[in-house]
Amino acid sequence: MDQPTPHDTSYHEPVMVEEVLSWLEPASNSWIVDCTFGGGGHSRALLDRYPAVRIVGIDRDADALLQAPDEQRLVVVLANYADIGTVLDEAELPDRVDGILCDLGVSSHQLDTDERGFSYHRHGPLDMRMGPDTGRTAADIINHSGEDELVSIFTRYGEEQFARRIARAIVKQRPFFDTIDLATCIAESVPAARRRRGHPARKVFQALRIVVNDELVAVARLMDESVQRLAPGGRLVVMAYHSLEDRIVKRALVKHATACTCPPEIPVCVCGAEPEMKILTPKAIRPSSAEIERNPRSRSAVMRVGERIW
Ligand SMILES: C[S@@+](CC[C@H](N)C(=O)[O-])C[C@H]1O[C@@H](n2cnc3c(N)ncnc32)[C@H](O)[C@@H]1O
Repeated sequence: MDQPTPHDTSYHEPVMVEEVLSWLEPASNSWIVDCTFGGGGHSRALLDRYPAVRIVGIDRDADALLQAPDEQRLVVVLANYADIGTVLDEAELPDRVDGILCDLGVSSHQLDTDERGFSYHRHGPLDMRMGPDTGRTAADIINHSGEDELVSIFTRYGEEQFARRIARAIVKQRPFFDTIDLATCIAESVPAARRRRGHPARKVFQALRIVVNDELVAVARLMDESVQRLAPGGRLVVMAYHSLEDRIVKRALVKHATACTCPPEIPVCVCGAEPEMKILTPKAIRPSSAEIERNPRSRSAVMRVGERIW
């Protein structure tokens, strides 16, 4: 048997690969949807480990799809994962699949490519759009939102304690078009103690990325759509990288694993609803310390797994 070609991880080093392989554990001829294809690390590992598995890889970033290997068992589609239902319908694939993988967030390629504007460590245009389906850039938001609107964005999507001070400084000094110029303004507007707790621009950059790409809405839709598209026994494996995403994943799993939808004031169930999912990871799974040491970007990963019941 041919040895699998070693995977080049310079685009993105996949996180918790063994855990993904064992939780998805596809049977022969299974269809898996990799909703966040990225550098294709997880898809390649699945194709290598399970010789009869077939994969639909989705990504909203065209750069990612250029990484796809020429492989008959892989179909790649440029799309938002929130539209997983439409992707499956249009590609004339089975209505319901055997596994769905979502490795949320950004790829190392996106973070490390200056022109994409995702990083507060590198000069680049304040862009942050993941794909052609996104509208406003980070510069549009920073330069055209009112102070109160910026405070709300930084608080809601970055959980930034100094949102007001940062927003006031931005409004005073804008326009901003460069990532480092914005990061410097943020760093100068927070107290020295805050500067010692990680990079002071981290939370604001996270908030901007979430708003530019409407990320939380997409994750919520992905979760509901995915549950409907899993065959009985099919598994949904989701990795989140910050608490806002993870909260949505956890709540969606609990919602679909809960039977009764009757209001709490009704003493006896009248809806007769059956739970659709079983939660397989009551406690979230995290990368091992060895993996975090090897790949520090994995450190915030939180994995949750559910299984479709019927
Ligand atoms: C953490 S990376 C995935 C890495 C991948 N698992 C690998 O092994 O290389 C996340 C990917 O999801 C994509 N992405 C983020 N939001 C998306 C969305 N709403 N729809 C489709 N792809 C999305 C990003 O463009 C990025 O390539």
